[in-house]
Amino acid sequence: MPHVLAPHVAGAEIEDSGQKVVLHPQETTIVTRSGEKHRRDFTLGRFCAHAALAQLGGAGGAIGRGGNGAPVWPAGFSGSITHTAGYAAALVARTSCFLSLGVDAERVGGIGDNLMPRLFDTAERALLADLTEERRKLVATILFSAKEATFKALNPVTGKKLSFPDIHVELAETIFRATCGSQEVAGNFAVGGDLVLTSAFLPAP
Ligand SMILES: CC(C)(COP(=O)(O)OP(=O)(O)OC[C@H]1O[C@@H](n2cnc3c(N)ncnc32)[C@H](O)[C@@H]1OP(=O)(O)O)[C@@H](O)C(=O)NCCC(=O)NCCS
Repeated sequence: MPHVLAPHVAGAEIEDSGQKVVLHPQETTIVTRSGEKHRRDFTLGRFCAHAALAQLGGAGGAIGRGGNGAPVWPAGFSGSITHTAGYAAALVARTSCFLSLGVDAERVGGIGDNLMPRLFDTAERALLADLTEERRKLVATILFSAKEATFKALNPVTGKKLSFPDIHVELAETIFRATCGSQEVAGNFAVGGDLVLTSAFLPAP
């Protein structure tokens, strides 16, 4: 988690060990019709979001859900939530620093070669084609996750639907740069075991 933070951004994460975690009462209504797995993922994500908000002095209020599925943050805050098998995380900032954030977690190995034409553009596929199978699985997961984090940062601001090839990602060391039309988005990535974590940042104007 520390590797995907940025100055003035708070983050929290949780490994699911079956621990008791409760939702804010107003948040329970969002998942009354959901299955057990989705409710658990949602609860762990909201737990992280509240923990990150508390670090910035924003604890207390419910985090709603907008019509686009994005979290509705308390006034003055922006952020993002992710969950994947056994893990959840959230990033939060003040809107005076960041208009919007994206965070995404993925387990390595979910992206087979058959999916690549739908997810990656020509340049990304050329990069992947040069790698060993093991390395390709890892880099494909990082590229995919970077696109998801970028989408989460952009969508609440632009309202635009995007497909994966709309976003081009370039990786360097532990950072990435995503290009979506004329928009450039900077982000970080980190790998721990089979977990890939990415973050994307839209600074305040
Ligand atoms: C939003 C989306 C990117 C989520 O990614 P995911 O890997 O499936 O799931 P994650 O657990 O990482 O993220 C889920 C969280 O994303 C957040 N989210 C959902 N819709 C969002 C949106 N439009 N904007 C920002 N965040 C959103 C929510 O907080 C959600 O968790 P919650 O329901 O518990 O609050 C994906 O489900 C989606 O809607 N995709 C459609 C568009 C798309 O894939 N475009 C291609 C990307 S370039």
